[in-house]
Amino acid sequence: MQFTLLIVDDEKNIRDGLAEAFQMEGYKALTAGDGQTAMKMLEENYVDLVITDLKMPHISGMELLHYVKQNWPNVPVIIITAHGDIADAVKAMQQGALEFITKPLNLEHLLKLTKNALEMRQLSIKNEELREEVEAQQRISSIIGKSPAMRKVFDMIRKVAPTKASVLITGESGAGKELVADAIHNLSPRRDKPFIKVHCAALAESLLESELFGHEKGAFTGAQTRQRGRFELADTGSLFLDEIGEINQNVQIKILRVLQEKKFERVGGETTIEVDVRLIAATNRDLKAEIAAGRFREDLYYRLNVVNIHVPALRERREDIPLLAATFLHEFSQENGKPIEGFDQRAKQALYAYDWPGNVRELRNCIESAVVMASGKLITLDDLPPGPRSAQEKKEIHIPAFCSLEEAEKIIITETLAALGGNKTKTAEVLRIGRKTLYQKIEQYGIEVAEKPELPKVESTTDQASLP
Ligand SMILES: Nc1ncnc2c1ncn2[C@@H]1O[C@H](COP(=O)(O)OP(=O)(O)OP(=O)(O)O)[C@@H](O)[C@H]1O
Ligand SMILES: [Mg+2]
Repeated sequence: MQFTLLIVDDEKNIRDGLAEAFQMEGYKALTAGDGQTAMKMLEENYVDLVITDLKMPHISGMELLHYVKQNWPNVPVIIITAHGDIADAVKAMQQGALEFITKPLNLEHLLKLTKNALEMRQLSIKNEELREEVEAQQRISSIIGKSPAMRKVFDMIRKVAPTKASVLITGESGAGKELVADAIHNLSPRRDKPFIKVHCAALAESLLESELFGHEKGAFTGAQTRQRGRFELADTGSLFLDEIGEINQNVQIKILRVLQEKKFERVGGETTIEVDVRLIAATNRDLKAEIAAGRFREDLYYRLNVVNIHVPALRERREDIPLLAATFLHEFSQENGKPIEGFDQRAKQALYAYDWPGNVRELRNCIESAVVMASGKLITLDDLPPGPRSAQEKKEIHIPAFCSLEEAEKIIITETLAALGGNKTKTAEVLRIGRKTLYQKIEQYGIEVAEKPELPKVESTTDQASLP
C-alpha cells in the first residue's frame, strides 16, 4: 500500500527537497506552498499524513492543524519549526500534533517518525475494522449475543427481514422476542413505515377485535366515533401481534382472512378495507399444544409460522451471560452515576450458574438492582438478588445430546473452570487430571479462563465464559 503525504511549507526548496526524499522512499508526496492550497488538497486527496511548517503567510500551520484535526482527527500531523519557535511547537502538540522537528531538518529522523506514525495509523484502522466486525457479530439492532444459538437467530433475522414473510417468534418470557420483532422491522424495507404493536393478552376479548380492525360509529355501546384499527394504522408497515396464543377463535378467523386476502371490515361496518401489512407474531405458549387442545386454529398457525424464529432460553446459551451482564452493568452504572468496574469472582460464578427462569429480563433487572446495592468498585455476591445468589451453591453442567466427546469435554472443562473461578489447580483436582493435561486441553479447545476480576469487556470475542 502506498501512503500519501502532504508537505506544506512556504519555502519551495524545503518542500521540494522533502517531497523528493519521501518519493525515493516509496511514498506519494503532495506539496503545498500555503495553508489555503493545503486545505484544498486535503479535500481532494486521501492524505495519510501531513507535514507542515508552523510559520506561513495567511493561514498558519497552527490553523491548518486545527483544520486537519477537526475534519480528519486520525490523520497525524508533524510540525516543522524554526529553532526559536519551540514554544509554539509545544502548543501545537497540545492541540493534537504528533511531533515537531526543528530546522535544519534531520531527514533521517523525519523519515523514521513518518514511518512509525503511518504504521500506528494503519494498526488503528485495522483495530477499528476488527472492532466493528466483532460488534456486528455480537449484536444485531439492539440484540446482544455471541452464542452459536444467538448467531443463528441473527442469521435468520437478516434473511427474513428483507422479505414480506410472516414470522412467528417463539421462546420463553423475557428471552428477547420483542427485540427480535423490532430488529426484523428495523432491518426491513418497511423500516420508515409504521410499526404497530398489539399486546393481545392485555386487551379484553371484546376489545381486541375492534382494537385490531377498528369499528364504525355505533357498532357497540360506547362506539361514539368511527375508529381505525391497528391493521389500518400499520398499512404499508409491520404489525406485531404479541402473545398471539391468547386470542379467541373469532379474532383468529379474521386475522386468517387478512393474511389470506389482505381484506377485512371494521366492527359494525360493511366496507371492505384492503391493507398491505407485514405480520410478526410472538408467543411463549406451545401453539402446537394449543391446536391439539382445540384452542388455536391450525390454518392460522401455518399462515403465521411461515418462518419460525425460536429465541432460546438464557440457560441454554450461558456463553451470552457474561456479555449481557457486562453490557447491563455498563448501562446501569452510568445511569446511576456509580463507577462500578465489574463483578467479583463469586458474583461471576453465581450469574453464570443461575438458571434465569425470567431469562434476559431477569438478568437485566438483577444487574440493575445489584448496581443500586453495590457499595464498592465490584459487584459482590451479597449485592445480587436471592435467586442468583443461591445459585452459587448448586451447580449442574448441561451437555446437549448428540454432541461429540470432545465437545462434551470442552463444556465440562469450561464450566468447571468457571465454577471454580478460573483456578486451574482446583479444576485439575476436581476433574482428576494432571495440571499439564488441563493446560493442554485449555489450549487445544481455546478455552478462555477468567482468573481475576477485570474491567467490563464488552468487546470480548471468544465464546467462553468470562465475566468482567
Ligand atoms: N439479547 C438481548 N440483548 C439485550 N437485551 C435483551 C436481550 N434479550 C432481551 N433483552 C432485554 O430483556 C428484556 C425482555 O426482552 P423482551 O421484551 O424482548 O422479551 P420477550 O421475549 O418479549 O418477553 P415476554 O414473553 O415476557 O413478552 C427487555 O428489556 C430487553 O431489552
Ligand atoms: Mg414480549
